[in-house]
Formats: sequence, structure tokens, C-alpha cells
Amino acid sequence: MGIYFDEKRSVFRLSTEHTAYFIGITDGKYVGHAYYGGPMEDCGCGYLMRAGEKPKPPSENPWEKASFADSYPFEYPAWGVGDYRESCLCVRTEGGHRCAELFYESHRIVSGKPGLPGLPATFEREGGGEAETLEIVCKDPVLGLKAVLRYSIFGDSDALARSVTLTNEGEENLYLEKVLSACLEMDNEGYELLTLNGSWARERHMEFSKLRHGFQGVESLRGVSSHQAQPFLALTTPDVGQDRGEVYAFHFVYSGNFSARAELTQFDTVRMTMGIHPDGFEWTLAPGESFTAPEVVCVYSDRGLGAMTRTFHDLYRNHLIRSPYLHRKRPVLINNWEATYFDFDKERLLEIARRAKEDGVEMLVMDDGWFGKRDNEHCSLGDWQVNERKLPGGLRALSEELKAMGMKFGIWLEPEMVSRDSELYREHPDWAIRIPGREPAMSRGQYILDLSRPEAADYVYQAVSAVLRSADISYVKWDMNRQMTDIGSAYLGREHQGELCHRYVLGVYRLQERLLREFPDLLLENCTSGGGRFDPGMLYYSPQIWCSDNTDAAERLRIQEGTALLYPLSAIGAHVSICPNHVNGRVTPFETRGYVALGGTFGYELDVVRLSDEERQAMRDQIALYHKYQELVREGDYYRIASVRENHEFDCYLAAAKDGSEALVTYVQETARSNYHSRRIRLAGLLPKERYVCTETGEEFSGELLMRGGLLVPPLPGDHAAKLWHFVKK
Ligand code: GLA
Repeated sequence: MGIYFDEKRSVFRLSTEHTAYFIGITDGKYVGHAYYGGPMEDCGCGYLMRAGEKPKPPSENPWEKASFADSYPFEYPAWGVGDYRESCLCVRTEGGHRCAELFYESHRIVSGKPGLPGLPATFEREGGGEAETLEIVCKDPVLGLKAVLRYSIFGDSDALARSVTLTNEGEENLYLEKVLSACLEMDNEGYELLTLNGSWARERHMEFSKLRHGFQGVESLRGVSSHQAQPFLALTTPDVGQDRGEVYAFHFVYSGNFSARAELTQFDTVRMTMGIHPDGFEWTLAPGESFTAPEVVCVYSDRGLGAMTRTFHDLYRNHLIRSPYLHRKRPVLINNWEATYFDFDKERLLEIARRAKEDGVEMLVMDDGWFGKRDNEHCSLGDWQVNERKLPGGLRALSEELKAMGMKFGIWLEPEMVSRDSELYREHPDWAIRIPGREPAMSRGQYILDLSRPEAADYVYQAVSAVLRSADISYVKWDMNRQMTDIGSAYLGREHQGELCHRYVLGVYRLQERLLREFPDLLLENCTSGGGRFDPGMLYYSPQIWCSDNTDAAERLRIQEGTALLYPLSAIGAHVSICPNHVNGRVTPFETRGYVALGGTFGYELDVVRLSDEERQAMRDQIALYHKYQELVREGDYYRIASVRENHEFDCYLAAAKDGSEALVTYVQETARSNYHSRRIRLAGLLPKERYVCTETGEEFSGELLMRGGLLVPPLPGDHAAKLWHFVKK
């Protein structure tokens, strides 16, 4: 593994254990993509760029430079000189012209992984010592623009992290109209496009579609990465499965507007791109200034989707999530939202806490409605003063009573917002994102604070930190409940309005960074009306993210399958809630809801006071399971065994210890089957030659028998019935 430059051939090689990535330089100027795939050492692969074919490169055929640009596999294509495929860069000059052309200038290979200013990014943990970074410096001499293309690899990962920094070395302003972060060129192999799409309460459903000529992809222009699309794109060979087929995946470490596209070209090559969405974006780069585009994580697998998934999981656990809770047991929490909505007071919360404590719950999370005069969703965001009518004695009194009963205390906040009906808005209407002369569109009665404005960002910080200092608060659910419209800032000048969406995201990052610096032990859970900002960017700040407002176990299987395609189970906020489910009215067994929530962070979102004795006993049993299995789920390898999305009958996945010593299998059926024999499922992630005992039944199996022969699942009575098996190596 490592990065190597073959000087004779002008080829760079970046190797990880199971992959290799080659970049070539043509004519001493053009930086092109030669190969990305399984491990390969031979740097003679530069011919794969086809620069020797017609049209020959400009040094040999200056009469056809435009045709050369039309097909050359640029590593970082720019707009304006004959490459008509998706470009990564579009620059306007003061003269109003749009064109850029980047030529190789120099490079360096450095050990380690540099951070990106103000942005979340993968990093090398202290003492890691095995990350390496290639920086290729390119220049456009006419614009005076320098571009540093950055590629990092890690000693323990098959992922590649890419980013780009642009610097204006000229004397005039440059206007960046488009700055994507990564591009990948390849020949088409009958690829299919894999994306994760959805909506509120239906986030991240996996979807495959055949690649056709032209552009296709996913995007968000909502100011957040969104419920509708995940900043992820993969090309898969048609035979792809969990353990077969090839996958090229891009995942964006960013939480705002994005574009992820694949383009099948006239020559049957494919170009994949990813970056900040160019619509509405413009960044003024004054002389001497730099702009860094966020990181894209690239993963290649020739061992199917399963290997891709585990590469992402390990990369994020080892090199992205910074929280001290990463490897810690998270407290079992109960959140009062679905139990009370806005209708609660201190006594009601304490009653819930007392009962929940008896059943083994460790933390009460007080959700929306504790501040200002907030008895509904239309007011008080921004007025972060406790409502003493509901909570006499304030947060301190509540937290102390909880502490006295042995419960931790967590709190809900929606810091990026301001209600139209709030003191804050009445005082500072110009702190809301809006366009002068236009009535901004409300959503949930609220506007978004302009976090590009330092006083607004500082107010938010002071308000949130004052809340956290006022009581013993262990956990924050940081919510964000509307999408961006009327994009204008009364703070930014005319030339900077196109920067607002990105500056807003940077503002969110800055706030959370600052908060975690002051409260390093805080367990932060990000949330955006459920899973509307579930992205690697937020994971850099919070080790867990609320996955969806939909807590129905049956739908959660699909949502959690798509989420776990990329994110470790330790990051997936999952709770048991009441039935009929508040989102879709479905009724599922209490036991099943618990098993499904065990595939995430685990907790409760219900009125424990109204549970039957039987349900409370089930709750105690579930919590015991959580204590037993949480470490395995948090630290283990995830294997998808079967998907209800594909078979419409049942879902099955497992968490296996990295050393093969144990595994927890979760099986949930969609509908009960009449008069069938047992169903055979083949496990994965075990050691074939070892023997395993099923801790529920005492039965013994070899690893190979469970993986090749399979496990027999007896017919289970009832729709949505579920079962867990725990296997331990003898
Ligand atoms: C969002 C969250 C919910 C809840 C409400 C409170 O919708 O996703 O879990 O916190 O806000 O208003």
C-alpha cells in the first residue's frame, strides 16, 4: 500500500490492500485518469487513457485540441475548452468570460492526511502513521488560478478521500460558478446506478436503475443533504450482490446542496462527478484567497456491495467520527416526543422518567416544547429561555430530580432556526434568511437564521451554551426542521449572495465544533425532521444521527437497510415506539420493534406510563438484550443476508465480531406463511472451521455449515414476527 510516482512514465499509483488508482500525465500537462479497480502494480497502464489514439494530444496534433478535450479522461475537468461532459470547474472572470484550463505544474506526496479548513473530513487518528496524501498542483496561467487536487489513502482502508483547493494567484477577482470535488472516468460495463432516495419518513431507500446515455443522478437544492436524496452515488456491474460484482461508490462529506451525477457519453465511457450543487452557487475569489471544496470518499469493491459497506463503516468509525462515544456504550434513553408532543410539564416528565427507570432506562430526553411559550410548532424558536410554567425551577431543578433518581438528562434544541412569532425575530428580522422586498416562505412557522452573519451565529452559540451550562445535560438532540427558500442574506454583499448556502453549512459546522470544544463529553445526536441531514459531514460532529421520524418497525427495515449500506449501525438513531404507529398506523409486535431498534443506537419514544405490564416486561427484556449485544452491534462487521426490499417476504442481517468470535442474527418476516417448511438462510462473517453454539438453544454448528448449509428458520406465527440468534464460538 502507498503512493508512488513513476517518473519515467509520468504515472501516479495509489494502492490500498484491494484497490489501485492510477493517474497519468499526458503531454506533461494534462492530468488524466488511467485506472481504478482491483490491486495492480504495473505503472505501464497510462495507455488506458487513450491519449495515443485519435485525436492525438495537442503536442502531436494542435489542429484538433478541441476533439482531444472532448474525450480525454480528465481527473478534474474544467469548463470551456472542448470537454462537453460534466465539468468540475466553471470560472468567470471580471471580463465576464467563462473558461478554465488546468495544467500539471508539480506534485508532492506527503505522509498523513491534512485537514480541510472549516470542513469535516476523514482524518488519521493519532499514532496512525499510515495515511498518505498525493497533492497534484495544477495551474491556469491565464486566470492565475491554482488548483491542488488532493488524494489520501489510509493504511487500514480501501477508501480514497479526495478534495480540491483553488487559489487565486492573479490580480483580479475570479467568480467560481461551479466547484465540484471529484470526477471519475471509466469504460461502461453495463453499469447500473445505485442511489438512496426517499422523502420525510421514507428516507434512504435503495434504488437501482440502468445507466442510459446522458446525465442521471441525484441532488439536493434544499440547503441540507435532504430526505429526498443521499449524497451518494454508485455504479455497479449488473451481477452485483452482497459478495459479488464490482462497485464504484462516491459519498460526499458534506451537509448542504449537492450534485452527484453519472454520464454515459458518446464514446460509451462513463463520467461520475460529485460536489456542491452549482445551481445558485457562486463564490467570489479575491486575489490571494482560497476555496476548498468538501471531501468525497471513493470506494471501489470487486467483492460486491458487502465489501463496499464494510469499507465505509470502518472508514467512518476509524477516520471520521471523533466523538468519545464512538466506542462507548450509549445510555438507553426515553424521549417524550411521541408520548406527549408539546403537552407536558415537569411532573409528567418525571412520571415518565420514574417508570422508565424501573424498566432499566438510563436517560430522559426532553423534546420540543420546553422554552419560550412553545405549546405548538409555530412559535418561540430562538427564545431559548425555559418556560417556568411547564418547568418550575428551570432545567436545573429537573436535571437534579432526574439525577437523584439515577437518570441522565438530555434536551432537544433547534438552534439554527427562528420562529416568526419570537422575541428574536421581532428584534432581528434581518437575521433570517430572506430576500429584501419579498415575504419569505414559512415552514412550520419558522425561518432559518443567517449563519453567515457573525452576530447571529454568535447569538446561537451563546444561547445553546447557556442552556448547557445551566444544568447537568448529557445529551443534545440538535434538530433542524425546515428547508431553505428565499435565499438571501442582509449581511453578505451583492457579490457574495451566491455564497450563502455554503456559508450557512460552514456556519453549522463552526457552531457544532465550538460547542464540542466547550462540552467535549456531550453526546450529540443530529436530527433534521428525522433523517434529512444524515450525511458523513454531520457524522464528524455527532456519533449518531436520528435516522427517521418513522419508527414503524416494518418501514424502518427499509430505511435502516439503505442507511446501513453506508453508515455503521452505531450511528443510526433507532427507537421503539408505540402502535398503532404515529406515522403510518401500522401495528407490529413489541418484540419486533425492539429487535429492529437494536440494529441502531436503541432507545424508546413512547409513553411508558400507558404500557401494559406485559409490554413493560418486554421492555425490560429488550434492555437486557441491548446491554448484552450493544458492543457487538457497535463494533462489529455488518452483513446483509436478505432484503425484504428484494424478496418482499423477509429481512435478515447480522453483526459479526471482527475476530469471528460471535454473531447476532436479526430476522424479521413481512407476512406469515401458511403451511410451509422452514426457510433456509445462509449466514456470513463467521470462521468456517470454528464451531459455534447458539446461545438461545444450545445447538452447535460449524461456521461453514451456517454459512454454506445455512440456518433453518421455522415458520413464525404472525405478520412482522421476528427472531434473534446469537452464535458464540466455542
Ligand atoms: C422533528 C424531529 C422529531 C421531534 C420534532 C419536534 O420533527 O424529527 O423527532 O423532535 O421535530 O418538533
